[in-house]
Amino acid sequence: MRTTQSTLREMYRAGEKITALTCYDACFSTILENAGIDILLVGDSLGNVLQGNDTTLAVSLDDMCYHTRCVYTGTRKTFVMSDMPFGTFQVSPEKTFENASKLLAAGAQMVKIEGGRIMAETILFLTLRGIPVCAHIFLSPQSIHQLGGYIVQGKSEQASKQLLDDALVLEKAGANMLLMELVPATLAKSVTNELSIPTIGIGSGADCSAQILVLHDMLGLYPGKKPRFVKNFMIDSSTIPLAITNYVDEVKNGLFPGAEHQF
Ligand code: KIV
Repeated sequence: MRTTQSTLREMYRAGEKITALTCYDACFSTILENAGIDILLVGDSLGNVLQGNDTTLAVSLDDMCYHTRCVYTGTRKTFVMSDMPFGTFQVSPEKTFENASKLLAAGAQMVKIEGGRIMAETILFLTLRGIPVCAHIFLSPQSIHQLGGYIVQGKSEQASKQLLDDALVLEKAGANMLLMELVPATLAKSVTNELSIPTIGIGSGADCSAQILVLHDMLGLYPGKKPRFVKNFMIDSSTIPLAITNYVDEVKNGLFPGAEHQF
């Protein structure tokens, strides 16, 4: 049986760490499922790692539907979440619903939307109509031109307060999960403690309910220097399936991320 939102909720309530990785095709989705990953995110990071672009901005809804279908087809039980790409949810809630429903038709069980409290109305609209949503806050790769770079967010007192306030507003609007990217570990811990929905962290410390990395990053396939929050699991693993299994073990046992991977 496929993992559902309720399964994830039970794991969250039981205090079990939830594992997630990005995935874009059927070959890898089968490998990740066999290694025991709980959530596969069809991330718009495919714009970087598959399409070779500097940003995620050119990824289309058709691209996301195609890769969602590939990932879904390679799995039987793993939870599938898909990113709504830039430009497909900054429209009316009705149009966002129409766009999100295409991802669900392709196999997604939840959509991920970047942005803070400004997305609350849309999240309310979608969740009331049966589309589960993961809200993605703080470092929003789709806002790269506005943010001026991929930098750690929430460092000032005012920014920390805004993050927490936004998280509470999004939870109230119905968000089912909250992804925090490059948030200082102590702040991510406070947000996780304040909310009653699971948080997913990337570069946000060990206290989030779930951890995610970009698949290619944790397999050591990053261009240039390794980002601080990434661990290359291939270094101590002879095969890709073993690297994924080691990632699952380390997340489940609270060994990853370590202090050296957080801000
Ligand atoms: O698209 C993506 O890979 C993401 C990451 C932050 C996990 O959203």
